[in-house]
Amino acid sequence: MSDLEIRAVPESELDRMLDLLDVVFHHRTEDDERDRNLWMPRRSERIGAYEGDTLVGQLAALPMKLSVPGALPDCSAITWVGVLPTHRRRGVLTAMIERMHADAVAAGRPVAALWASQAGIYGRYGFGLADRSIDLEVDTSRPLALRIEADPRPLRLIRRDQAAEVLGPIHARAIGRRPGGLARDAEWWEKAILPRVDEFHDEYTEPRIVVLDGEPGGYAIYRTHENDDASGTIRLDELEADTPAVEAALWQFLAAIDLTKRIQANGRPVDDLLPLLAIDPDQVVVKGDWGALWLRLIDVPTALRLRSWATDESLVIEVKDARLPANEGRWRLTGEATGDEPDLTFGVAELGSVYLGGTRVRRLVRAGLVTEHTPGAAKRLDAALEVPLAPHTNDDF
Ligand SMILES: CC(C)(COP(=O)(O)OP(=O)(O)OC[C@H]1O[C@@H](n2cnc3c(N)ncnc32)[C@H](O)[C@@H]1OP(=O)(O)O)[C@@H](O)C(=O)NCCC(=O)NCCS
Repeated sequence: MSDLEIRAVPESELDRMLDLLDVVFHHRTEDDERDRNLWMPRRSERIGAYEGDTLVGQLAALPMKLSVPGALPDCSAITWVGVLPTHRRRGVLTAMIERMHADAVAAGRPVAALWASQAGIYGRYGFGLADRSIDLEVDTSRPLALRIEADPRPLRLIRRDQAAEVLGPIHARAIGRRPGGLARDAEWWEKAILPRVDEFHDEYTEPRIVVLDGEPGGYAIYRTHENDDASGTIRLDELEADTPAVEAALWQFLAAIDLTKRIQANGRPVDDLLPLLAIDPDQVVVKGDWGALWLRLIDVPTALRLRSWATDESLVIEVKDARLPANEGRWRLTGEATGDEPDLTFGVAELGSVYLGGTRVRRLVRAGLVTEHTPGAAKRLDAALEVPLAPHTNDDF
């Protein structure tokens, strides 16, 4: 590392970041795609590792807001991470993460989050897996009969450029109810959620957006296979609804679209209602279950203070965090420091994995990953962490 320097990547070098990303992810960006792909690092804090003038490693931190139970704190959303194969395993990533941690502390962001393309890497930096997703496949070659009445109000299709205005409030309500989502602005809607062309699956149409207006309301975003009535797949990219009846209306709309015979809904919440709602549960098959968002508590006392708790517990948790020592110590769930004996001892990564309510403390204790000093403390903390809806993240960054 001694011959390398960690410094900000100027906007004039965005193209170099794209080149580096292509190298490490074995990808080819076509010339006409380049500009389209640069929006994300353009709005990020860009950390580069340079050998002289050569960019050999990079990490981008998007200043975003992440929904956590009862709050919407600032979050460094980490993306575009890569180190050239010629420079790997020399501590370049570690140095960039340290800079990211320092930047997040300086900016007063209590949490950081990422999607891991290699999940074995980030635990050592204090990230814990905080939510999971499931993939559903719905057989729509026959009508989708449901056990509840669908909301009968009419649906309408809207244009992509209307999404931020029309879907924005519905999405904001959804992430208020369910932790794990990012607050979105117009650019995020347009480029992250609704790009015209899905870069990695350009065989799909541009996104279609169907909305049930009003409150309660809801929407679904989907793409279909272009010119492919043989395959007949609807790929559902997002579905949010204020009530189960609106949810039912959207699923039944999708299931009834002509010239299609299945819905592929990848990345649904683990507590998705559809498997329960289908009269024939075999019509809805869970095809996959995978780890999604990794969460890093940058400022433990602030994160504890701002989260809402389901019970009034007065537990003391001890936190170990070798990389951000300000987090070390004994904390009440209110975020106050205390000298009292701890009920539980957590590594900061394990605290990150339970923070959104998606992982049970008791399970971590059973696995030997969290230490319970006071019998029953893990059960009490689980009750305090309880969230009505399982955390879920549908923002790909
Ligand atoms: C993953 C990557 C960023 C690691 O960068 P790096 O500079 O080699 O990482 P470091 O040298 O700082 O290594 C940090 C630690 O992570 C470990 N590590 C690195 N890559 C790992 C992997 N794929 N799986 C498990 N552990 C890994 C190292 O062994 C090291 O462990 P240690 O601290 O216990 O010694 C780099 O190899 C890369 O760009 N890979 C391809 C792109 C990619 O996967 N990006 C991540 C996107 S989420």
